[in-house]
Amino acid sequence: MEGALACRFIVDKIAASDTLRLNGGAGHGRPDRQFTGRCNVKVPVEITINGKSYSGEVEARQLLVHFIREEVGLTGTKVGCDTSQCGSCTVKLDGAATKACTVLTVQASGSEVTTIEGLADGSDLHPLQEAFWNKHGLQCGFCTPGMIIAADELLRKNPSPSRSEIRHGLEGNICRCTGYQNIVLAVEDAARSMGGA
Ligand code: FES
Ligand code: FES
Repeated sequence: MEGALACRFIVDKIAASDTLRLNGGAGHGRPDRQFTGRCNVKVPVEITINGKSYSGEVEARQLLVHFIREEVGLTGTKVGCDTSQCGSCTVKLDGAATKACTVLTVQASGSEVTTIEGLADGSDLHPLQEAFWNKHGLQCGFCTPGMIIAADELLRKNPSPSRSEIRHGLEGNICRCTGYQNIVLAVEDAARSMGGA
């Protein structure tokens, strides 16, 4: 099997298998398996992002983060590395915080994605967004979208985290500016306003 046929075979295998979902969560983003082959086969996808359905054809090798940023135009989600380390690309994929640079677009077909743009309720900021604003949990802001999505998952799993649990919960997200202290304070503040700690 060679050329386009081989690519098609791989794409079908990936699309059909949940076990090839690449990332378990924001803090644990090493891929189980990476699809690195050169493959220009176009594959139809349909993905719901922030409640709106997007469909089209994408290259089989395209990463979800590039679909979100370049095809849908939601640039709040950032690309900060090419090694699945920084967490700046973190989105919710079917509710789970996921590094969007570790998932192929084709793997996300049929799924629901929430990006930082979808977290607010209209003009009302999400409590985490408010808290990052109020507690100065950012400087350049590059890591902030991924940090907030990861913090959202943390607070859903643990509504009253200790400071050390917050640090542990966000260990898959790297910030090069803040020294993390105000990020921890912001998450603590959001937990309080969301009815937790
Ligand atoms: S861009 Fe995805 S982890 Fe860095
Ligand atoms: S605020 Fe600059 S990287 Fe975090």
